[in-house]
Amino acid sequence: MSEEWVEVGSLSDIPKLGARVVNAPDGDIAVFRTASDDVFALRDECPHKKGPLSQGIVHGDRVSCPLHDWKIMLDSGNAVAPDEGCAASYPIKMDGETIFLSLTPNEGCPNKG
Ligand code: FES
Repeated sequence: MSEEWVEVGSLSDIPKLGARVVNAPDGDIAVFRTASDDVFALRDECPHKKGPLSQGIVHGDRVSCPLHDWKIMLDSGNAVAPDEGCAASYPIKMDGETIFLSLTPNEGCPNKG
């Protein structure tokens, strides 16, 4: 399958420790910016009860779900123990300050939708 890259916008469009939502055909994807300006993308759906991860707070390499405070790893989408589950993660590439998102999820999380 050929990879499709979607332009998300500029790094400065995303608040530090925040996210912006991309409306993808298969559902919303949250694009996060960390304190160190790393960018990660996860399906905007908590593996617990589908809370909107884009409305969570980023701290370090994880985001706290706004509903019941599960911690989700930004790189893998895995819930931090003792919680279990994962949100699909998506490749990001940067071209200078411009963020591109792949709509093909990374391997490793069966919860693609
Ligand atoms: S829905 Fe995310 S912690 Fe419950």
